[in-house]
Amino acid sequence: MARITASVYTSHVPAIGAAMDLGKTQEDYWKSVFAGYDFSKQWMKDNKPDVIFLVFNDHATAFSSDLIPTFAIGTAAEYQPADEGWGPRPVPVVKGHPELASHIAQSVIQQDFDLTIVNKMDVDHGLTVPLSLMCGPLDPIKDAWPCPVIPFAVNVVQYPVPSGQRCFNLGQAIRKAVESYDEDINVHIWGTGGMSHQLQGARAGLINREWDNAWLDQLIQDPAACAATPHINYVREAGSEGIEMVMWLIARGAMNDIKDGKATGPAPQLRHRFYHVPASNTAVGHVILENSSST
Ligand code: DHB
Ligand code: FE
Repeated sequence: MARITASVYTSHVPAIGAAMDLGKTQEDYWKSVFAGYDFSKQWMKDNKPDVIFLVFNDHATAFSSDLIPTFAIGTAAEYQPADEGWGPRPVPVVKGHPELASHIAQSVIQQDFDLTIVNKMDVDHGLTVPLSLMCGPLDPIKDAWPCPVIPFAVNVVQYPVPSGQRCFNLGQAIRKAVESYDEDINVHIWGTGGMSHQLQGARAGLINREWDNAWLDQLIQDPAACAATPHINYVREAGSEGIEMVMWLIARGAMNDIKDGKATGPAPQLRHRFYHVPASNTAVGHVILENSSST
């Protein structure tokens, strides 16, 4: 059967993608951001997944106010990097995994989470920047991402957005879905976006190191309590765009230690943790957790 072996958490910032695409990663401003991913790139090579289930948010690129799915799963064979106003990023096409994605859609909808099925979607920085950070620079034509990716888009742009608790519960349903897929494959689940940032209004530029790091502690060690964090705390403490952090709870909820909404099994192993301010307007957070056992 398929297994989730690890979860990866990382911020996405369009300027990080631009720094990579324009060869600026060794400039003073960017050096220390990318240094935080040196371990991760090697870890990806040493722990290559068969499939990445990548939880991200679309930034009014594939979707708009015309259509706002709360949770949308990509079942397509491939996804083109989106044009966000400066042309598509020069990165490889993202190959999907229609069989596993359709299986997860079937299972998760049967577990009473309503998903939108997406058969055509361009993917913006929310998806391609985490891939670039974890895989390093790749030639758009000659190279390929290391494995197929199932994009899972969450609405965190237009209220009402899903709660952290619902995201955490959904993660548990996704794990069940993966574990009922009848093929021995190794799946990583990634939660992306965040951490503290606010791009607009009187508090634009807000960063909250203390809150971000306390939230990371809780995500790792006491995920059920972390999941209970209400929306207003994210917005007040981590800024209007800090709400992207609820997506990390989908990945955390899919880890083996979670049973019936509580962390009862052996805790996952913390392989890597990184935090850096600033990258553009955003506090960059990054964590890698490996499942201790496949209970
Ligand atoms: C920035 C961060 C984001 O999460 C985003 O979607 C767009 C911009 C920023 O810090 O510039
Ligand atoms: Fe964003």
